[in-house]
Amino acid sequence: MNLFDVYPLQPITPERASGSRLWDVNGQEYLDLYGGHAVISIGHGHPHWTRRIQEQLHKISFYSNSVHIPLQEQLAEKLGKVSGKISYQLFLCNSGAEANENALKLASFHTGRKMVIAFQGAFHGRTSLAVSATDNKNYVAPVNETEHIRFLPFNDAESVHSFFQEKGNQVAAVIVEGIQGVGGIRVASAEFLQTIRCCCDQYGAVYIADSVQCGYGRSGQFYSHDYAAVTADIYTMAKGMGNGFPIAGLSIAPHIKPKHFQLGTTFGGNHLACAAALAVLEVIESENLMKNAGVLGEYLQRSIRALPELTDVRGVGLMIGFDYPETLQTLRNHLLFEKHIFTGEAKPRVVRLLPSLALTREEADQFLEALRESLKELQAAS
Ligand SMILES: Cc1ncc(COP(=O)(O)O)c(C=O)c1O
Repeated sequence: MNLFDVYPLQPITPERASGSRLWDVNGQEYLDLYGGHAVISIGHGHPHWTRRIQEQLHKISFYSNSVHIPLQEQLAEKLGKVSGKISYQLFLCNSGAEANENALKLASFHTGRKMVIAFQGAFHGRTSLAVSATDNKNYVAPVNETEHIRFLPFNDAESVHSFFQEKGNQVAAVIVEGIQGVGGIRVASAEFLQTIRCCCDQYGAVYIADSVQCGYGRSGQFYSHDYAAVTADIYTMAKGMGNGFPIAGLSIAPHIKPKHFQLGTTFGGNHLACAAALAVLEVIESENLMKNAGVLGEYLQRSIRALPELTDVRGVGLMIGFDYPETLQTLRNHLLFEKHIFTGEAKPRVVRLLPSLALTREEADQFLEALRESLKELQAAS
């Protein structure tokens, strides 16, 4: 049997990892500034995370949501505290797409409406409604095409306002990333997010903050929407939540009331996943990782801005993007194969940095040095 070939792969086989470093099967060391799509939040194989999972494994690893799982309550309490949303309710699932899928369904149940506003450049996942709200035709199968999703320009407060004036009474939800990730690290302005909040309040729509990539402390605040001082009705999260152990969740405002059987999952919130997620929050708190993300993010952005070849350096905390010119189009490969540094990409020529929130100043400096050298080497070769 062959693998279903949907991923273009790098010719690298990681064998072990620790902190922000990986080693491949040949013993080659890599610095990881990508974390496998922003997943590694507290560092590969963090000892506390490993211990918590191991200990849980020896007790009970799984039972379904038909019995009491106290670890879920502990996770809800910890998440409420660390995120500053103590009165919110937690629903646990397994992936970012599933979190958004459930958030959109819940908004529709809650309002009794069908229309969803999403934004150009958005990525919300690969499942049915989540992919319909994703602005990339290549991912949307004919069966996912729906009239219910309306795309508006990102960061255009006026268009949100006019749309609500015309059709506000039909809108179930607005789904928005505080910082678009796959869309190329585009930071939502405070005015834009505040306008969405006002319109949702005025017309009774649900504000869904897709925090799958930009949340969980990556921006230096727990949710990047916190910078705009807006509070969402539902926050969706995944990626950094389990530091590589699959777990996702919805943090749901108290005015949205649960009804039995409206949402459900077999695997979501299992014992092992909760242990992993609790370990992540404990480390975020004890190692002050949100502060680290803010400080190192500013340092990285400031240092990258000093390089004239690279333009439009942007982002918040450890979610950073910058553009590189066509003449340097092999930059990411050069960083990977010559300097052994993983980075992410967005189209057309954007480097995305999504390292662990525990990145150190020395690791940031190693990357900056490699970046400066790469620019010189590529220019000399052209
Ligand atoms: C903002 C955002 N939402 C949702 C998703 C989907 O998450 P998953 O791949 O876990 O389904 C992603 C994944 O990249 C994402 O970046």
